[in-house]
Amino acid sequence: MRSQEWFGRTGKDGFIYRAWMKNQGFPHHEFEGKPVIGICNTWSELTPCNAHFRELAESIKRGVWEAGGFPLEFPVMSLGECQIKPTAMLFRNLASMDVEESIRGNSIDGVILMCGCDKTTPSLVMGACSVDIPTMVVSGGPMLAGRFQGRKIGTSDLWRFAEDYKMGKMTQAEFIAAEASMARSQGHCAVMGTASTMAAMVESLGLSLPDNATIPAADSRRKVLAHMTGMRAVELVREGLTPSKLLTRKAFENAIMINAALGGSTNFILHLMAIAGRLGTFGDDVNLSLDDFDRLSAQIPLLANLQPSGEHFVEDLFYAGGLPALIRELLPHLHADALTVNGKTLGENCSEARCYDPEVIATLDEPFKPNSGIAVLRGNLCPNGAVIKPSAATPELMQHTGRAVVFEDIDDYKKRIDDPALSAGTFPLDASCVLVLKNVGPRGYPGMPEVGNMTLPASILAQGVHDMVRISDGRMSGTGFGTVVLHVSPESAVGGNLALVQNGDLITLDVPNRSLHLHVSDEDLALRLAQFKPLELGYERGYVNLFIRHVTQAHEGADFDFLRGSSGSVVKRDSH
Ligand code: FES
Repeated sequence: MRSQEWFGRTGKDGFIYRAWMKNQGFPHHEFEGKPVIGICNTWSELTPCNAHFRELAESIKRGVWEAGGFPLEFPVMSLGECQIKPTAMLFRNLASMDVEESIRGNSIDGVILMCGCDKTTPSLVMGACSVDIPTMVVSGGPMLAGRFQGRKIGTSDLWRFAEDYKMGKMTQAEFIAAEASMARSQGHCAVMGTASTMAAMVESLGLSLPDNATIPAADSRRKVLAHMTGMRAVELVREGLTPSKLLTRKAFENAIMINAALGGSTNFILHLMAIAGRLGTFGDDVNLSLDDFDRLSAQIPLLANLQPSGEHFVEDLFYAGGLPALIRELLPHLHADALTVNGKTLGENCSEARCYDPEVIATLDEPFKPNSGIAVLRGNLCPNGAVIKPSAATPELMQHTGRAVVFEDIDDYKKRIDDPALSAGTFPLDASCVLVLKNVGPRGYPGMPEVGNMTLPASILAQGVHDMVRISDGRMSGTGFGTVVLHVSPESAVGGNLALVQNGDLITLDVPNRSLHLHVSDEDLALRLAQFKPLELGYERGYVNLFIRHVTQAHEGADFDFLRGSSGSVVKRDSH
């Protein structure tokens, strides 16, 4: 075991590696050949969704001890989606570097990743894949559904509350009461937002035990799962089952199809692409592209009736049978023989699963909605792709042509969205217009914030209209909804055609034909491009400077170009 490279040494080196660990009170026999299981903890009071992780880590440790392993917990950078500025996505790659180097540089044989709030899952999985020692995931679990004024609420209601507040239909006191009512328990967002999407992703990929995705954070069975994961991780080391043996092309295809049936977040694409990229030489057979998401999702109906595409909460999915029940229903489309981290196949893991609530998990014969997943658009506005989530959009807007109303960046949008001049200019704004937001891409913002589902102008909301076509190179919260085109690539900051859109240009969105077209001739676009001036980003030093020089475009997962692939688990130099 690689931990013996530290603890199994004789002489001065072994003394150094063991002695300082013994200041924690570990007896000598713990160092004699026991599998060392690192517990990679993203606990932080600044990541409220993960604030219960110290207690959960204790359950993991109990399992490791019980199975004859030696658990060692360590912290890594934690990203609180709703706290960290300017956007957690700016730091996903940084956190993944912390995870990668922390795992490789330390005396651990296997690792359990404690993931919860949105970016804490992909950052940890990306880092672990680049090392490729036996790895399991324990997610923190969703919050219990909120309760407000007699009804269930979750994060998706925030967008509705924001509109009501803007229109004076909700008082400040009600708004504050709703905050406490929504976040009433430990855990991450209670809807099928990005955190739940990521938890389902790791379960679908086979990196966690069954039910990891849906057991509520407040349910004691979450601790049982953590304990069992600790036990299994010790066996995993003995078996040498590493992520590269699990994360095959089949596993990725399963994850894409299951995400489609769940109505998962559009952020899923960015993170799965980045994870696939980290498998490097191990994962040559994965070779994932944006088109895989569209092709594989196209045959999958929406089975889960969960917010934001439906009505219910992730907690309800657990009570209805959990992800295994949904996977069992979807098995005719899936690769049932894909191996998972408990040593069983995906098919074996759900063989006993039952659906207890067809209102929450529908059947293939009678799906909740016929269309699911994430549609990938092409056209002169997005030569390298853009995405839209049809299940969260307005069916009548799936084929729509409208005049562009352009905002040069998010500050311009905030300044002018409710300006009466917008409705009175040469191209007056109405509900048929297409809102275009530039410079919120990976490089341009930088960090690709979740602002793509721009709140509509008050003048439009006052007409009772709650959706318009919106286009940007940014992202959308997994809890968001609407006819929102995201991840336009290339982004405007690098001179993509999005940068060339002008007020009044006609844009056609045609989701059935997967097209996004700007009605401007190639000649005129070339003339506009000649006038294009790249943004002055103004980051001369530090991490953000590194970020803007190395971040890839959205269709490549927005990872750093130099992080693609794997460095493995061998430490090349040894100073002791
Ligand atoms: Fe952490 Fe939603 S803010 S999961």
